Amino acid sequence: MGDLLRLFIGLVSLIGIKAAVNDRFYPRYHLAPPHGWMNDPNGFSYFRGEYHLFYQYNPESSMEPGIAHWGHASSKDLFHWQHLPIAMYPNDTYDKSGVFSGSALIEDDKMYLYYTGNVNYPNEQPDHEQFQALAESTDGINVKKYEKNPIINAPNRQPNIRDPKVWKHGSKYYMVLGNSFENGTLGRVLLYASDDKINWEEVAILHQSDGSLGYMFECPDFFELNGKYVLLFSPQGIEPQGDKYRNLFQTGYIIGHFSYETNEFHPITKFREIDHGHDYYATQTIKDKKGRRLLVAWFDMWEQDYPERKDGFTGQMTIVRELVLTHDNRIIQKPTHEANTVRSNRLRTGKGKVGDAVTFEDKAGEINIKGDSSRDLEVTIEGEGSTVKISYDARNGTVTLDRGGNDGVRRTEWRPRGRILKWRIFVDASSIELFCGEGEVTFSSRFFPDGDVSVRLSSENTREFAVSNLKRTVCLSDDDD
Ligand SMILES: *[C@@H]1O[C@H](CO)[C@@H](O)[C@H](O)[C@H]1NC(C)=O
Ligand SMILES: *[C@@H]1O[C@H](CO)[C@@H](O)[C@H](O)[C@H]1NC(C)=O
Ligand SMILES: *[C@@H]1O[C@H](CO)[C@@H](O)[C@H](O)[C@H]1NC(C)=O
Repeated sequence: MGDLLRLFIGLVSLIGIKAAVNDRFYPRYHLAPPHGWMNDPNGFSYFRGEYHLFYQYNPESSMEPGIAHWGHASSKDLFHWQHLPIAMYPNDTYDKSGVFSGSALIEDDKMYLYYTGNVNYPNEQPDHEQFQALAESTDGINVKKYEKNPIINAPNRQPNIRDPKVWKHGSKYYMVLGNSFENGTLGRVLLYASDDKINWEEVAILHQSDGSLGYMFECPDFFELNGKYVLLFSPQGIEPQGDKYRNLFQTGYIIGHFSYETNEFHPITKFREIDHGHDYYATQTIKDKKGRRLLVAWFDMWEQDYPERKDGFTGQMTIVRELVLTHDNRIIQKPTHEANTVRSNRLRTGKGKVGDAVTFEDKAGEINIKGDSSRDLEVTIEGEGSTVKISYDARNGTVTLDRGGNDGVRRTEWRPRGRILKWRIFVDASSIELFCGEGEVTFSSRFFPDGDVSVRLSSENTREFAVSNLKRTVCLSDDDD
């Protein structure tokens, strides 16, 4: 069945007509591929009045990442996404095995896209090389690769060097790259600088693993937040430690001080995971026109084999979050105020009672709960074949999300700051995003309920139980590409 469907989707996308995507797990307001496979967000930017989001895309199949293209979508409000034509194909000598991840720089009304070209050499050592390349767009739709690519050549014997994140500071341009060194055993982030966006020079090793942070750092990002600097990245190869680092790969951050005079980054915190759910990877941030630091992540995880694969699509993006740094150097993630644009009718307000259950109209909704921070709280989100329990343990000061099945539990320390416990939960067909308090702790996890989705209070402790439907904004009917 899987092979037949895959063949069918392959044929359908080859001849350019709409592919069959089953709607049951397809997100109503999160960005997902029209069909096929999506992973890392790329080229997140604000250009001519619209947000743009590119992504790692395999239009041929939802069963595997394949040879990465850059898919593309745009939105005026971060929630109503429109699919745009594929921005880049893996059809040049330096990117023929994948147009890998990268970022956008907007300058002089032009979009500059930096990315990694991957070239595989089967049965050789090393078996691949990675080049950094540039592409441009003047209209935000048609993308032209630079004729003199690559702009940074593959270094000898260090085949893993990728995911350029580029920004401008003063009159100079800066780029961070994720890298694996010591023959692929340790991860690090390299800092490059340029005067002209094209000729780049390595100026510093921004940070490197001492062995405790794995063998490769992917998708590095580096930015100022509330007067300090954040190094955000996705390390591979960290072993689980109790409740920490339970996912196959992690995403987290180190806070520190940085000087553009010396290009030295001095950490003042240890590495900390940014999200505590099962499915959150390969973050990318931008500073938008309103001065907000916005973040988006791939809302999925490698090697999961989720049932949506057989429905014709794999992967989606988290909702975009706004970042703030606290005085004690923790990143807070808040849903943007644009989340209000998808809110539809209220299903419930007032105090909830044990057993209170509310069913969403179209599997998509928002839940706002307030309780007493001195008492336990539990809420259950469920559909046919899938149940997620979210609970607060007042004595231990922990929040737990349990989606059942193999490796279903994710837990972290959290205590509400005052007497009121606040949870805001976004549900969307096959996903849950939980924001605790002001967003000081978040959980992003996928689940796969067939049929209707309901939320049920499982404990007495509620001052407020407010439930709303959320609208469908991303339609499968926009999917021509
Ligand atoms: C790559 O594919 C795109 C889209 O089909 C096409 O416009 C472009 O000319 C191709 N480039 C090469 C080098 O074949
Ligand atoms: C990397 O591997 C090569 C070949 O096995 C070896 O000669 C070299 O010393 C290694 N380098 C490091 C830094 O471990
Ligand atoms: C709370 O902590 C105690 C002691 O460490 C432990 O035995 C118990 O299982 C914890 N409860 C939960 C719900 O994790």
